Amino acid sequence: MLVHIPGVLTAEQVGRCREVMARTDWVDGRVTAGHQSAQVKRNLQLPEGSPDARELGDMILAALGRNPLFMSAVLPKRIFPPLFNRYDAEGEMGFGSHVDNAIRTIPGTGERVRTDVSSTLFLSAPDEYDGGELVIEDTYGAHSVKLPAGDMIVYPGTSLHHVTKVTRGSRVASFFWTESMVADVTRRSMMFDLDMSIIRLTADHPEHPSVMTLTSLYHNLLRQWVI
Ligand code: NI
Repeated sequence: MLVHIPGVLTAEQVGRCREVMARTDWVDGRVTAGHQSAQVKRNLQLPEGSPDARELGDMILAALGRNPLFMSAVLPKRIFPPLFNRYDAEGEMGFGSHVDNAIRTIPGTGERVRTDVSSTLFLSAPDEYDGGELVIEDTYGAHSVKLPAGDMIVYPGTSLHHVTKVTRGSRVASFFWTESMVADVTRRSMMFDLDMSIIRLTADHPEHPSVMTLTSLYHNLLRQWVI
């Protein structure tokens, strides 16, 4: 289940991210990689928990809290503090095929987050760089994703994925993981479809009695499946 969430950040918020990223210090992205992914990861990251990463991360978390599509698609329970990465053409940066670690510990708190859903929030415009596609593999094949700055893709944490080499310019993004209230991807996907159907039905036929029946069904299913 891949969901494109447009306009997570406004143009001004993307601008603020870019301003901070242009003047800050970057470190080798392998600092947060597991053993397998460290072999294939070539990029730069903002140091985890640095004041810059925290400022931008808090801005993103606040934006997500106001985003109904993210809420519906992900049913978030706990969100790992957003991380930030950069892929440059110089150094042929990219990230080979890997699966993200199942568990992430939030630095400083010891709190563990199960990575049910992965998110990538694009902060570079597509015409600023060549390559740098996020390619996500699922049972329906490989999906290549490159979105406008401020847009985000969410996909199951179980997916094999990679970032193709950047061959021109630089690509900056934020990425993070969410533990969902509904761990199972099939159930989560059905909840999302049901919610979207209720929203469409409510818009077209607000008085239809099925709106209430389906809304009850949604909440009662969620009550069954939430963990
Ligand atoms: Ni990854």
